[in-house]
Amino acid sequence: RVVVLDFGGQYNQLIARRIRDLGVFSELLPPHTSAEELKKIHPKGIIFSGGPNSVYDEKSPKCDPGIFSLGIPILGICYGMQMIAYHFGAGVDRAHKREYGKAELDIVSDSPIFKGLDKTQWVWMSHSDVVVSPPESFRVDGKTDSAPIAAMSDPKRQIYAVQFHPEVRHSLYGNEMLHNFLYEICKCSGQWSMETFIEDAVAEIRNRVGGDKKVLLALSGGVDSSVVAALIHKAVGDQLTCMFVDHGLLRKGEAESVVQTFGEHFHMNLVKIDARERFLKKLAGVTDPEQKRKIIGNEFIRVFEEESARFGDHHFLGQGTLYTDIIESGTDTAHTIKSHHNVGGLPEDMKMELIEPLNTLFKDEVRKVGEELGLPHEIVWRQPFPGPGLGIRVIGEVTEHKLNIVRESDAILREEITKAGLDREIWQYFTTLPDFRSVGVMGDVRTYAYTVGIRAVTSVDGMTADWAKIPFEVLERISNRIINEVDDVNRVVYDITSKPPATIEWE
Ligand code: XMP
Repeated sequence: RVVVLDFGGQYNQLIARRIRDLGVFSELLPPHTSAEELKKIHPKGIIFSGGPNSVYDEKSPKCDPGIFSLGIPILGICYGMQMIAYHFGAGVDRAHKREYGKAELDIVSDSPIFKGLDKTQWVWMSHSDVVVSPPESFRVDGKTDSAPIAAMSDPKRQIYAVQFHPEVRHSLYGNEMLHNFLYEICKCSGQWSMETFIEDAVAEIRNRVGGDKKVLLALSGGVDSSVVAALIHKAVGDQLTCMFVDHGLLRKGEAESVVQTFGEHFHMNLVKIDARERFLKKLAGVTDPEQKRKIIGNEFIRVFEEESARFGDHHFLGQGTLYTDIIESGTDTAHTIKSHHNVGGLPEDMKMELIEPLNTLFKDEVRKVGEELGLPHEIVWRQPFPGPGLGIRVIGEVTEHKLNIVRESDAILREEITKAGLDREIWQYFTTLPDFRSVGVMGDVRTYAYTVGIRAVTSVDGMTADWAKIPFEVLERISNRIINEVDDVNRVVYDITSKPPATIEWE
């Protein structure tokens, strides 16, 4: 493995990711990880990441100096390079203006980092400080117009450093540089794959849980909780209990598919809690979206607490926290809050230890793990689905009748989008039910029925989105089918608003 010490840069998660893509396991560790700790895990290489600080700030994070004497190859990136320069007593200039963007790098040595690459190439810079004179025993490997030492190394000590960001795609040969570091310098074997990840994770979970302790997991049927369930189950089998709360706000066929996949196919210890009535009762008469969300969240916690108390002691709580969840929340304490948020805000006093085996992975890596573990396609490639479920797609008061309209129309939409081959292209698609009826005519008879809204968006992360340009013929088919097959609907509209100004969900 290759360890990335995290000094807080915005691209750090990408470094570990790129290294894994190159066939070597990699994870981020805190900046203060000691040389002793590192020695124990035998990394083949250590990367110092970028970061927002100046090495001259007293409070800026610095690595344990002992790391430089471990004899393990080091690559410093941006702040990482300045820290190396600072440690070895070189001059770092607090540049007056930030350099952000593409720069042309001239390679001026035969450093193995640049082996096989063009002598002049585009790299991506994002920094304010620059190294102005190399430390003793270091040589200059590359320069740009604004950074006289854009790359340097001390090959004897196996220490390499670059001012730019090889992990960013805008650095044309960035991936090749990382490849060179891994294979030319660290001599990695490149055997790592998702299969190895699974083997390692399974061994680690077994080790932690032991032969008799129990693990509890809130399974929603979403990608993350499904993959983590399959993984923990592979490790400890029946010591895992999955609790699936059916709050009645799920899409058509979803509860059945969870039971079938996890209970019948994987033979997991699956406890299905039918809380449909309970949730509907709590939601009766409530029309305010925020209040609906709160009620659904709180009720989920209550059900989970009550029901889990009935299964006796569980030592561990499994969670599908991803790398991005941790990165987004930023700090160690925020980490806990976010993990709880993932299972609907479970309370802190549930004195269980967390098992979060996916917390080094990105969403698409989690999908690969899911496929490797044999989870069905519908689960692995499931589109995002909000925790409050259909509760926020039925506008206004939630009733069984309205839920049914959304469930049925949504199932038709999903079927037709898949049939048209658009299911991978459109990021999220669903139907909503505005809280009004309008007049129509069907078979010479006046109708007064509901309108169904179709929402379909393209997006990368859900933060911004554009409405999907579904071909008219497909929309026509969806509209016809909804009107003909779903009771109490006489009108279908298509939402052609982007986010912003609208949000993806209607509530
Ligand atoms: P909005 O409507 O805010 O949605 O544009 C962005 C993405 O987040 C999902 N979403 C939620 N997910 N709990 C969740 O787990 C929620 O309360 C929630 N609200 C919205 C939404 O489906 C979309 O993918």
